[in-house]
Formats: sequence, C-alpha cells, structure tokens
Amino acid sequence: MRLNSSSLLALKIALEGAAEAGAETELLDVRALDLPMYSPDTDAESAPAAARRIAEAVYAAPGLIWASPHYHGTVSGSFKNALDWLQLLARREPPFLTDKVIGLISTAGGVQGLQTINTMEYVVRALRAWAVPLVVPIPQAWQAFDESDRPRDQVIETQLRTLGTEVARVAQRMTLRDISDPAAECEKAAARAANARVGGRK
Ligand SMILES: Cc1cc2nc3c(=O)[nH]c(=O)nc-3n(C[C@H](O)[C@H](O)[C@H](O)COP(=O)(O)O)c2cc1C
Repeated sequence: MRLNSSSLLALKIALEGAAEAGAETELLDVRALDLPMYSPDTDAESAPAAARRIAEAVYAAPGLIWASPHYHGTVSGSFKNALDWLQLLARREPPFLTDKVIGLISTAGGVQGLQTINTMEYVVRALRAWAVPLVVPIPQAWQAFDESDRPRDQVIETQLRTLGTEVARVAQRMTLRDISDPAAECEKAAARAANARVGGRK
C-alpha cells in the first residue's frame, strides 16, 4: 500500500522478465485497485468491481507473480485481503487457482523475508497452484532500489527477471501439457540454471 512500494518495484521487474520470455502481462496493484475488505457475505454477483476485476484477471492467467512486503513476520494485510477475494473463484471450473504457476517475491526491512515467502507457499498449495522453485526474498528493501527504481544489486535484478522468465516458461508447459522434445527441454533448463548461478543464484 506504500507510495513507491519496493514490492511493487520488484514485481514490475519480474514482469519485465516474463514479458521477455513471451508472456502477455498485466500488473495488479492493490493500492490502485483500492479493494474493500473481503466479506464472506459477498458473492460473484454482489462483489465490488475491483474484486471482480482481480478475480477474472487471475482466472484468465496461466501464471502469476505475487509480491508482498514482510509485515510482522508474514504477508501484509492488504495482500492477504486480495487473496481472500479469490474466494470468488471457488465455484469456477476449475476452482480457485488449479494448476496455475506462481512466482513469489517478498521485501523486508530486515533480513527475514523468507518467512513471508513460506506463508505465501501455504496459500499456493491451498488454492491448488504450483510455485516455481526460485523465490526472491529481498532483504533491507529500503536500500535495495536506486533513484531510477532499479535494484542497486545486479544479483537481485537477475533473480527477479529470472523469476518472471521461469513463471512464463513453466506456465506455458502446464498449458501445453505436452513436451515434444524432452532432451532439448532439459538442456535449455540446465543452461538457464547455469546462467542464474553466474548471476548469483545459489
Ligand atoms: C506494519 C509493518 C510491519 C513490518 N514488519 C516487519 C517485520 O516484521 N520484519 C521486517 O524485517 N520488516 C518489517 N517491516 C518493514 C517492511 O517489511 C519493509 O519496509 C518493506 O520493504 C515494505 O515494503 P513496501 O516498500 O512494498 O511497502 C514492517 C513494516 C510495516 C509497515
């Protein structure tokens, strides 16, 4: 919800990576959407326009990238509220986020952002989606971005872009449900992993 949110800056860079991998991307910013608090008394017909918009965009997307600040050891309330609105997808076919591919980013003031990523992973499983193995917890986010809104650390830039690329790549494979050349796919994946290691990923 913060103006000049570092989570939002990180998300934009990951989306650039997804676009470079050929994905059509859409940014959903909870601050701009101004979502009201979720109420279980609301159904798909009576839900506010912003909530319907987020639910429909999520339903249409084969892949998602989530970014939340680390608040008191977990995701922020506004991020969780946006997830709660996905209850509108409970009775869709397929329900919730079945087989969607999710990339996870957190930003923390300190160095414990992985807790937020772990919280997000519980939600990924509850909503029947799949998280890609690479996750990007950004520590000390107050100093992570420069005046041009780019990461000061090239490793973070590489990891965010790689996350976007991974979500696009795996989402495409989940939608195709078919690998025509398994050997070539394995070689490409190994090259990508080697490049990511050169960029600083363990
Ligand atoms: C209500 C609140 C709780 C926070 N709790 C923590 C925390 O437990 N640990 C931590 O490292 N940083 C904490 N922070 C700092 C945020 O994680 C940090 O500022 C983050 O980068 C904010 O992301 P944003 O720029 O997208 O708002 C907290 C900040 C707020 C406003």
